[in-house]
Amino acid sequence: MGELVLSIRDLRVTFDTPLGPLEAVRGVDIDVHEGEMMGVVGESGSGKSVTFLAAMGLLPHRAKVTGSVTLNGQEMIGASNKVLRNMRGGLMSMIFQDPLSALNPVHRIGDQIVEMLKAHQPKMSDKDAANRAVELLDIVGIPQAAERAHQYPHEFSGGMRQRVVIAIAIANNPKVLIADEPTTALDVTVQAQILEVIERVQKYFGTAVVLITHDLGVIARVADRVNVMYAGRNVEKGGVDALFDHPSHPYTRGLLASLPHEGVERLTPIIGFPPNMLTPPPGCGFAPRCSHATDACLVSLPPLRAFGDLETACIRAEELVMKAGLS
Ligand SMILES: Nc1ncnc2c1ncn2[C@@H]1O[C@H](COP(=O)(O)OP(=O)(O)O)[C@@H](O)[C@H]1O
Ligand code: SF4
Ligand SMILES: [Mg+2]
Repeated sequence: MGELVLSIRDLRVTFDTPLGPLEAVRGVDIDVHEGEMMGVVGESGSGKSVTFLAAMGLLPHRAKVTGSVTLNGQEMIGASNKVLRNMRGGLMSMIFQDPLSALNPVHRIGDQIVEMLKAHQPKMSDKDAANRAVELLDIVGIPQAAERAHQYPHEFSGGMRQRVVIAIAIANNPKVLIADEPTTALDVTVQAQILEVIERVQKYFGTAVVLITHDLGVIARVADRVNVMYAGRNVEKGGVDALFDHPSHPYTRGLLASLPHEGVERLTPIIGFPPNMLTPPPGCGFAPRCSHATDACLVSLPPLRAFGDLETACIRAEELVMKAGLS
């Protein structure tokens, strides 16, 4: 593994809402190393976006954030606006599900890339910035990049717009690119193309990528390591091969069983819903949906701990592996 570039430690985010405090993130630890593709997966509402919005300093003021996020060794939680502005689009950038809202409809595509380049490299000449913008469009696979740089977002398809968003995000050679459900709004063939572009960026530029998705199938295709999140916590993490080969947490097993796979006609969805984060249970958040839950699971939050070549937050992981081996 390359050097550690992004380190999230005991991150907690609580939103002040009219219904009371909502505990969106409850002690998350994630490490991202130079050049790796880190998958972050979990059902909607598990705290994936909020974790990385907190890391980028993009949460509203009514969010209380504690813990630590270091990027290249520098602390981002509580950092000044100036430090955060320098970091965003510089050392770390983030792309979102909806490529349309990320682009300014009244500015030409090329100009939007130039703007990002100049925000972080003010000494770059207009000509160099314009040339670099075309180069970036070419890198993300936009045909006739020089001509298309003069067009407006509405002249691009959804997939092409997402490519432009990626070009803007990588303009200043970030160390870390966070891609939050980057393919969810796109149709299936385009999804595969966008994943390829993201992989190309990771491989050729050595950019560490955090790929956030609710779809374990996407993770299987491109990630090196995986963080499984549930109810604002990490519940399992490890290398992608180990996690798919011998998942230790009942929630991960549930996600895997609900994936389409060969020889299985009917998929098994996980029954029930994640807990309401206004009133999270004191014990394992998965207990109400877990067929292995016992009274011990309801007492306190299971900590994430080493388990073979994985890390798991299931207190019964050993017993469950033995049971599976005997049956
Ligand atoms: N701005 C906000 N104000 C209040 N609650 C929020 C806000 N953003 C997210 N949440 C809540 O935080 C929890 C985690 O959300 P999120 O990180 O967006 O989930 P995911 O990205 O995993 O689908 C959810 O319960 C969500 O409703
Ligand atoms: S700790 Fe208990 S309830 Fe939670 S996943 Fe493990 S067995 Fe199920
Ligand atoms: Mg999200």
